[in-house]
Amino acid sequence: MLYKCILRPILFLKDPEETHEQILTLLSKLSFLEVPLERLFVVDDKRLQVRLGPLTFPNPVGLAAGFDKNGAALEIWPGFGFGFMEVGAVTALRQPGNPKPRLYRLPKDQALINRLGFNNDGAEAIAARLDELNQNGKLQKIPLGINVGRSKIVETKDAAKDFLFTFEKLYPYGDYFTLNVSSPNTPNLRDLQAKNLLKELLEVIQTKNRELAGRSSSKEKPVLVKIAPDMEFSQVDEIIEVVESQKVAGIIATNATAFLREKLTGRVDEPGGLSGKPLRERATSFIRHIYQTTRGRLPIIGVGGIFTAEDAYEKIKAGAMAVQILTGFVYEGPGAVKRINRGLLRLMERDGFKNISEVMGSGV
Ligand SMILES: Cc1cc2nc3c(=O)[nH]c(=O)nc-3n(C[C@H](O)[C@H](O)[C@H](O)COP(=O)(O)O)c2cc1C
Repeated sequence: MLYKCILRPILFLKDPEETHEQILTLLSKLSFLEVPLERLFVVDDKRLQVRLGPLTFPNPVGLAAGFDKNGAALEIWPGFGFGFMEVGAVTALRQPGNPKPRLYRLPKDQALINRLGFNNDGAEAIAARLDELNQNGKLQKIPLGINVGRSKIVETKDAAKDFLFTFEKLYPYGDYFTLNVSSPNTPNLRDLQAKNLLKELLEVIQTKNRELAGRSSSKEKPVLVKIAPDMEFSQVDEIIEVVESQKVAGIIATNATAFLREKLTGRVDEPGGLSGKPLRERATSFIRHIYQTTRGRLPIIGVGGIFTAEDAYEKIKAGAMAVQILTGFVYEGPGAVKRINRGLLRLMERDGFKNISEVMGSGV
């Protein structure tokens, strides 16, 4: 209430990207509030725990990539009740992204359009930041994913090398890695979703994954592929085939959409990725399709248009083992994750599920 009635109207008066940057700067200075925030926002209940390979998420609600691209405020996210968080997209080269303005709010549609274009400090600087946090024991509260993208100036033929650089630099700090081949805002990036190119990329990354794990006598880290919602299911099936053959840990479905503009009621229609409410059903249909095709063998992290517990429940029932939110966090505010987790428990009790893993795929 406080957020929606007072804070949000004030925040929404200003430029979206500027507001976002100011909030991140503020949160980065408030890391000492993490523990009191935990008391306010963490829903601590074993029934919400989920596993992804070797990782345990205390609850299935994660912070989606793109909210904290540089890992500026990583210490504070556990305090808002997230079960895991994803930093990035990180690219090998530091880059400014597209010209501003490049982020738009669509309040009537409960949506955002962004064409940021992977603005980030680059792999070296972000590795240094994560190293410092790690040395101070500040990265251990919840699993950390690292979202890896392609540098803008790199051509498709050199993309695997570019991804590899970032993967290797950040390897010690990530609990899992997401290969982002689906942002609509980096020219030709989505070409990497094509069978042969994706296979080549995954071979390179998984070979390095095994090598690095071997060096430290530990297990390989989970690598996931994040896909776009803008393709036919026949192409999704090709991706599934490659992903399974390369022993990828899972799929994140989905990124923002370059289409679906017919769903908008407001006047803003800018090029870029549309996220939030208008994406919800489309993203869920991708999750359901992947779950059905793989008969639940392949872990899916569901993302796109989650605002409420019902939205998250819908995606888990369609086959997601966990979910992520971004636009919903912007619109619903700091209490969003707590409300979703509490609501999930309520829905599970209503439907007679003993834990959240039982819900997974139950609606398919
Ligand atoms: C401002 C903004 C920046 C984003 N940046 C990234 C990114 O760097 N990497 C990525 O994989 N997804 C990125 N995304 C996509 C989100 O992670 C998510 O997949 C998408 O927004 C759908 O979820 P939502 O409806 O909860 O926002 C971004 C989305 C927004 C709105």
